[in-house]
Amino acid sequence: NGNGNALRVASPSSNVTTELADIDWDNLGFGFMSTDYMYIMKCSQGENFSKGELQRFGNIELSPSAGILNYGQGLFEGLKAYRKHDGNILLFRPEENALRLRMGAERMCMPSPTVEQFLEAVKVTVVANERWIPPPGKGSLYIRPLLMGSGAVLGVAPAPEYTFLIYVSPVGNYFKEGLAPINLIVETEMHRATRGGTGGVKTIGNYAAVLKAQSAAKAKGYSDVLYLDSVHKRYLEEVSSCNVFLVKGNVISTPAIKGTILPGITRKSIIDVALSQGFQVEERSVTVDELLDADEVFCTGTAVVVSPVGSITFLGKRVTYGIDGIGRVSQQLYSALTSLQMGLTEDKMDWIVE
Ligand code: COI
Repeated sequence: NGNGNALRVASPSSNVTTELADIDWDNLGFGFMSTDYMYIMKCSQGENFSKGELQRFGNIELSPSAGILNYGQGLFEGLKAYRKHDGNILLFRPEENALRLRMGAERMCMPSPTVEQFLEAVKVTVVANERWIPPPGKGSLYIRPLLMGSGAVLGVAPAPEYTFLIYVSPVGNYFKEGLAPINLIVETEMHRATRGGTGGVKTIGNYAAVLKAQSAAKAKGYSDVLYLDSVHKRYLEEVSSCNVFLVKGNVISTPAIKGTILPGITRKSIIDVALSQGFQVEERSVTVDELLDADEVFCTGTAVVVSPVGSITFLGKRVTYGIDGIGRVSQQLYSALTSLQMGLTEDKMDWIVE
């Protein structure tokens, strides 16, 4: 809590309190903070992952010739743990992350943990780092699984050894705007992905590829970049770290998954939440012209949750949405999703793992 007085919160086992880490819980952003433990599991190419273990959090040792360092053979995941008022710890759809990692591993020629191994590793890591889970309403514990070619290679080939690792860090809002609307610029020269490439899996290189346009956009005061398809340059793809949705009347549209955008778990969940609330949802090709004509625009992702967009700039023209603050639909979907994730509403979809 930043002033030396330890905060205590209820723990799932009755009458027990956990002492929280002594940090400023009221001002969490999305920056890395080291915690107590990480989880590590290894295997050789052609074999299956077997037993993993917790280790004190710290640097890892890699050969300079490791597959991940030389040829980008790596994937990551992102999910969050929330602390409930009764002390229980909640995960949101963690098996979806396990399945997405397995899909990505197939594309990147890597072995991957089974869904059961992934879930067990996530649970063990979260519990070991329990004192870093923010108090209810102050944020979440961001869980970052990594899968990497850790064995040495020189010629271009799959690495001979693989490491699955999980570390965690307490987080608040992703964008510095907090819950206030973000301002995006549509990128017309650089592209994030193309058909047949790796844009649809969570490989590390996809995120290096967006840094140049993102840095230029931030230098001009924008929050982030919205990418277009690389063939026609008129259909929406995604933002550097999240999916995009637009609202027109009662219809919510989002680019369809065709291998170039990330199949977001928050994206998928918001589609279901919106359908359950009576909206019509369309997954299809969405043009930039439709975007400029929308009533509301918002982004979704594990890190960004549901982030309202206040303005879009395209070829020098700026379009703004809403008058002040969050649009009605974005607010409604944000509230529905976050109250579910924090255990404040009934989990009718069976998405929560305690
Ligand atoms: C997530 O939402 O978990 C992501 O992977 C975004 C990340 C690049 C910050």
